[in-house]
Amino acid sequence: MLVNVNDYQEVAAARLSQAAYDYYRGGARDELALDRNRRAFQEYAVHYKVLAGVEQVDLGTSVLGLPVSFPVMAAPTAFHGMADPQGELSSARAVTAEGCVFILSTLSNTPIEQVVEQASGPVLFQLYVYKDRGITRELVQRAERAGARALVVTVDAPVLAVREKDVRNGFTLPPGLKLANLSGVGNDDLGGGLGDYVQRHLDPSLSWRDLEWLIGQTSLPVVAKGIVRPDDAAQAAALGVRAVVVSNHGGRQLDHSPATLHCVAAVRQAVPEGVEIWMDGGVRRGADVMLACCLGARAVLVGRPILWGLAAAGQEGVRQVMQTLRQEMMEAMMLTGCSRLDQLSPSLLERLKE
Ligand SMILES: Cc1cc2nc3c(=O)[nH]c(=O)nc-3n(C[C@H](O)[C@H](O)[C@H](O)COP(=O)(O)O)c2cc1C
Repeated sequence: MLVNVNDYQEVAAARLSQAAYDYYRGGARDELALDRNRRAFQEYAVHYKVLAGVEQVDLGTSVLGLPVSFPVMAAPTAFHGMADPQGELSSARAVTAEGCVFILSTLSNTPIEQVVEQASGPVLFQLYVYKDRGITRELVQRAERAGARALVVTVDAPVLAVREKDVRNGFTLPPGLKLANLSGVGNDDLGGGLGDYVQRHLDPSLSWRDLEWLIGQTSLPVVAKGIVRPDDAAQAAALGVRAVVVSNHGGRQLDHSPATLHCVAAVRQAVPEGVEIWMDGGVRRGADVMLACCLGARAVLVGRPILWGLAAAGQEGVRQVMQTLRQEMMEAMMLTGCSRLDQLSPSLLERLKE
């Protein structure tokens, strides 16, 4: 019986090829950041209120002005085609049917146009900046034309950290799967593997000036994903991003990154109120979402949980994962004595260890 997100991971492990499972699950090098992200949630105790009259709990909020039924979005993750024949169409349908926002990776197996068309709610487009700014501009224009509601620029990947299992497995895309957003611009084949692809095409010279350039290129709101430092968050906000995602790429980039949950409060303090703080990394329980919101996140993103749902049971599996997180969050809110998200604050939390 599938009761929690970990149960979906177990089924996914049994159904996926070893190489695909390792790619989805893995973190960089010694997987320190991957473990830290997850452990951070155990390091808080919640000083709950009682007799708070919680018969009507409202988990609804908005991100970038888009109404959402609860504060969980699908993080951009590459290659949903390895988990389900319909790939990102299945995951996007499920997430948006739950009243949540779906963020499509640049490296998806389904083109942005089809995903937006099939989704019943907002789709954002995650952007990797290509060395060839012509390709970058083309991706931005394609996302705008397709109806994406924001650009989520990933800023923590000037190079791809090595995930050692992928090296041992010789990980690359299975035959038949392509980088669907790159078709027509000549870079839709992963060829010698993901690390090699990123090295050939993505731009390690990316700097604040490029972020400024990008914000000037598009009418869409821009979100910077992959920040852990307050000073970086402040700089991004000053350039005009509408949200900052406190993220270390799910422990897949710098292995010595801090746990992202521990970075949320300081980042929140460093940027103006009008700039939203989102976070991701290790969210596996509804109570985790509540903790992140207490610390100042407007919403969280989940990466692997979506992939586990998708691999375990396709569109329906993703729907169930989202519903599980929603029910768990509802339970945590009621037991904390909070019926609205604006009642969550750091004062409910005790940090158990430094
Ligand atoms: C298999 C996989 C692929 C990913 N691909 C991308 C990507 O294409 N672009 C990106 O910005 N982040 C990517 N990420 C990072 C996620 O957006 C997100 O930051 C991370 O998964 C959150 O951690 P979680 O998996 O613990 O929820 C990927 C993560 C995973 C696990």
